[in-house]
Amino acid sequence: MNILFATSEAVPLAKTGGLADVAGALPKALNARGADVRIVLPKYEEIPDSYLQEFRLLAEFQVSFGWRNQYCGLLAARIDGVTYYLIDNEYYFRRSGLYGYDDDAERFVFFCFAVMEAVRYMGFHPNIVHCHDWQTGLIPFLLRTRYAFDPAWAYTKSVFTIHNLKYQGLFGMDLMKELTGAGDDMFVPDKLEYHGAASCMKGGLVFADKLTTVSGTYAMEIQSPYYGEGLDDLLRYRSGDLVGIVNGIDTESFDPMNDPELHTPYRNSLSRKRKNKTELQKEMGLRESADTPLIGIVSRLVEQKGFDLIAATLDELLQEDVQLVVLGAGEWRYEELFRSAAARYPEKAALWLGYSDRMARRIYAGSDMFAMPSKFEPCGLSQLISLRYRTVPIVRETGGLRDTVQAYNEYTGEGNGFSFSNYNAHEYLDTVRKALAAYGREEVWKRIVENGARADYSWSSSAKAYMDVYSQLSADRKESEP
Ligand code: ADP
Ligand code: GLC
Repeated sequence: MNILFATSEAVPLAKTGGLADVAGALPKALNARGADVRIVLPKYEEIPDSYLQEFRLLAEFQVSFGWRNQYCGLLAARIDGVTYYLIDNEYYFRRSGLYGYDDDAERFVFFCFAVMEAVRYMGFHPNIVHCHDWQTGLIPFLLRTRYAFDPAWAYTKSVFTIHNLKYQGLFGMDLMKELTGAGDDMFVPDKLEYHGAASCMKGGLVFADKLTTVSGTYAMEIQSPYYGEGLDDLLRYRSGDLVGIVNGIDTESFDPMNDPELHTPYRNSLSRKRKNKTELQKEMGLRESADTPLIGIVSRLVEQKGFDLIAATLDELLQEDVQLVVLGAGEWRYEELFRSAAARYPEKAALWLGYSDRMARRIYAGSDMFAMPSKFEPCGLSQLISLRYRTVPIVRETGGLRDTVQAYNEYTGEGNGFSFSNYNAHEYLDTVRKALAAYGREEVWKRIVENGARADYSWSSSAKAYMDVYSQLSADRKESEP
């Protein structure tokens, strides 16, 4: 089965968050099950030269959308056994970073049209085009409208995965009419319109043949008004086509036994893990102490991740014998929160501002606990990486956090972490205190860490669930073929 992954980021080429981890790792797991999955993404400025050198030019052509006619180069390379295609247009993508430009609407409308055209030159006919988040939401829309009878896309079905319903790609209706060239009849509430704006996300939600999201709990949550971001009615309407499949992680890349960024490799030995902690303390300028519990955070610094709960309780927490290391960047108010904590408690709190894969790995390895009290969390990979690095997650029971972290139960001895249910700052703080108390009891702590070590966080079972979704679609296809 031929599957084309259309995505705005994928490791190892370009990453801002978990989408890149998924888009890079899931294809490998699907290919191991006999599929031929290839990935297409924009050729960003930040793609490392070492990878760019691998690419060769397959084709150059023009992409027409609205009144525009733009150059597009199509490049291809095999990286780690997976074929990657890049969509090249320097005007749109030769900039720093991936998103956040005033003309993001135009950039990603271009990307979607370019993918539709690029398939003519790939020598690869996709049975399924699997799109991810709003940046690729117009592809299912185009497949059902302008490209419905295009031989390059004959019998191709579409899957759209919601990684985060909060980011919808909402733009002015007039702009989107002009960019897509689609008629007024497409900009109505049961198609692309969202309260007077045009929604790229709805291009996927309305027009894709199947919808998936990244955990079972989030699939249920987004059908309710609290988590539905104004789209819960549409998601309830499409619930028969919506499945939640929990993310995995690339267990080869995230392996504390085999991670070149770590000071001391380890698997189950907590004393070897602690060597990474003292190295981290040294590197971050904290007091060196192997016994002090260290809480790590590696995150986009945005409201979603529960930083309001952390802000409300940070001073109280730092009265305890505990240390905190934060790696992240994002909203100024949260950067300032941790900058100020680090200034006031220099031996206890440290902030590494920015994005660093190396530091992320050193924090997963060097921390005893990982805090992720998210307001909502479609899946979350950080808690899975933490478990893999024998770091105990402290989470709120929402989305994929609820599906992957079980609260430790002192009576049965079961559970791989600590969790709480209400979005309440003192429930969060109480839960951290419970974790600190358990850390003080060596046998209990070992048990929790071991419970975490037993589960399988690889992609193997979730890849099978995606294969089932694809197979259902190709069975439908056979029925509809002449
Ligand atoms: P989200 O996709 O919502 O940001 P996830 O938990 O699914 O959250 O995935 C986040 C991914 O990005 C993880 O691999 C995490 O380690 C990584 N990450 C987040 N912030 C940073 C950062 N500042 N530096 C390095 N890696 C980061
Ligand atoms: C999104 C979500 C995160 C999820 C990731 C990958 O960024 O916020 O919860 O793990 O996508 O699916």
